[in-house]
Amino acid sequence: NKKNYILAIESSCDDTSAAVLCNTKVLSNVVATQEIHKQYGGVVPELASRAHQQNIVPVVHQALAKANIDKKQLSAIAFTRGPGLMGSLLVGASFAKSLSLGLNIPLIEVNHMEAHILAHFIDDESMTAPEFPFLGMTISGGHTQIVKVSNYFDMEVLGETLDDAVGEAFDKSAKLMGLPYPGGPLVDKNAQLGNPRAFDFPKPKVDGLNFSFSGLKTSILYFLQRETKKNPDFIVENINDICASVQYTILEILMDKLKLAVKQTGIQQVAIGGGVAANSGIRARLKEAEETLGWKTYIPKFQYCTDNAAMIGIVGYLKFLEGQFTDQSIGAKARYAI
Ligand code: KG4
Ligand code: ZN
Repeated sequence: NKKNYILAIESSCDDTSAAVLCNTKVLSNVVATQEIHKQYGGVVPELASRAHQQNIVPVVHQALAKANIDKKQLSAIAFTRGPGLMGSLLVGASFAKSLSLGLNIPLIEVNHMEAHILAHFIDDESMTAPEFPFLGMTISGGHTQIVKVSNYFDMEVLGETLDDAVGEAFDKSAKLMGLPYPGGPLVDKNAQLGNPRAFDFPKPKVDGLNFSFSGLKTSILYFLQRETKKNPDFIVENINDICASVQYTILEILMDKLKLAVKQTGIQQVAIGGGVAANSGIRARLKEAEETLGWKTYIPKFQYCTDNAAMIGIVGYLKFLEGQFTDQSIGAKARYAI
């Protein structure tokens, strides 16, 4: 069995990441998270691309060093072509193109959303690969999609968000409660100490398998305004219950759509990915669905859920096997459908 070494680059949003894979095994996966955005309460695109520009070379050097691989041993270079922030994508794309030219090795373009799903095929003792066909649900700060996965490169988007992504719903709700960015993990932490049924928030009425989260944010805003008028300390005094109730509503929305997707397709294998897959509530709900609904569920290791280059590398390897290479005329794509 030949050893192919793939260098992968991910720079679609605010994490600069490089990974080296040997076939399906991850030898290194370095992520430089940009702290600069914290003070603005969200990602500032211009600052993100500047930080990528500074981080990309050291991050790639670290990835090669950790993998103990010389760049001359590389078989191919894979990079995120999109979707994402244009200024961020361009840094990774330009770097990958230059390196492929310099080393005279094949260049492979990767769709970030496909990568979130195919991350399940990374060879790791703590993970099992789902069998085809399965339902993939990608939930993060930038995306919310349910995808029917018939094969590695045979995917169909069954539904997606019409406005905010689910991670944004977590982060924006957290911001309304005065929690720092990104608030998702803090909502999760507080929710574990609160009552999920303390407060009721309406679920949006969206047909089919699409999602909407912007209405939830508005109803939380009005609710908090109303309650703090009566009691200025309402948020501080009830933070755990508010977080638990917000999270409960978001999880209900996700689980309702997943159940509908299972019903419509007859597929009971469900694999999730994206930063929100780290949420303890969604993990518990999926485990529960294994027992009560007979589903088989898959959640990747945390470092392969959030934005990372290892997931770009596994897609790179799968495309490498099929000879799916691209030439130097390739550009980045801010909007790039599966
Ligand atoms: O995949 P990711 O790192 O980047 C994007 O592609 O967006 O996802 C980041 C998102 C943020 O919105 C963050 O608040 C959310 O994932 N997140 C969580 C948790 N951990 C991260 N949301 C809820 N509960 C968590 N434990
Ligand atoms: Zn992502």
